[in-house]
Amino acid sequence: MQKVRKAVIPAAGLGTRFLPATKAIAKEMLPIVDKPTIQFIVEEALNSGIEDILIVTGKGKRPIEDHFDSNVELEMNLSSKGKKELLDLVEETTGINLHFIRQKRPLGLGHAVLQAKAFVGNEPFVVMLGDDIMESKVPLTKQLMNDYEKTTASTLAVMKVPHKDTSKYGIINPNSEISKGLYNVKNFVEKPNPKEAPSDLAIIGRYLLTPEIFDILENQKPGAGNEIQLTDAIDNLNKTQRVFARQYTGKRYDVGDKLGMVEANIEYGLKHKEISVSLKEYIKELAKTF
Ligand code: UTP
Repeated sequence: MQKVRKAVIPAAGLGTRFLPATKAIAKEMLPIVDKPTIQFIVEEALNSGIEDILIVTGKGKRPIEDHFDSNVELEMNLSSKGKKELLDLVEETTGINLHFIRQKRPLGLGHAVLQAKAFVGNEPFVVMLGDDIMESKVPLTKQLMNDYEKTTASTLAVMKVPHKDTSKYGIINPNSEISKGLYNVKNFVEKPNPKEAPSDLAIIGRYLLTPEIFDILENQKPGAGNEIQLTDAIDNLNKTQRVFARQYTGKRYDVGDKLGMVEANIEYGLKHKEISVSLKEYIKELAKTF
């Protein structure tokens, strides 16, 4: 069995839900209190034992590369002022095995993943979307890797969503639950309207895929939204290989959405050592005015 060592983080989307903020700033660099969202994703990968990460970037995404590079001027400045804690924070994001490739045009998530073909080669790999920040004892990516050790098959993370929201997600049509929380899948449907949705189990931003997905992506026609959809390619993969779905039960912050972003900021702030006490007080006071 091949080990899962590589992760792909597609980050070339336009981030239209956060306009005007994302007119000149990469959505992945929007912070949760003091940490860019993409750093949470990279940390989940590392905590899961991933060794190499490819970030698929596009126009206007240079700040992502700079964030994970060293900033000698800043480091010297902090060092000369004896700001050890800040220096550690700045240095924390360098020295990770990161690679970058550009998606020339935002033709869809499937097309973004296709850009990783040469990087991945003939190995199983994970795709991690920056829109979803996960918090669980065993990182979700690690859960998928554990499943792979048993099944050696592609496995997507899914989560129950309100029925009215199915049109926002890729939805699975589950066949049978083969072990607790692990489903055999009949087929996958991208963004079905609630009347046609085969279940309320939505694909969330973590996928473990076998490399055969690339041959399919190369021939995948545009689907919903006229984009090359990863879900459609996975549905095709499912016709020749087994594809499973792992139901996630931990905490998920949908930071690709305004409300999810604010919720993540509040909850992370409540845990943040510098501001947790004052923020708690502030929220208590504010709640009195509702
Ligand atoms: P989204 O559907 O969330 O699109 O993409 P988006 O452009 O990032 O954001 P909105 O919806 O316009 O606000 C899901 C993931 O796929 C990546 C995005 O960066 C995001 O991580 N993606 C999407 C690409 O890398 N390339 C694409 O062509 C499309």
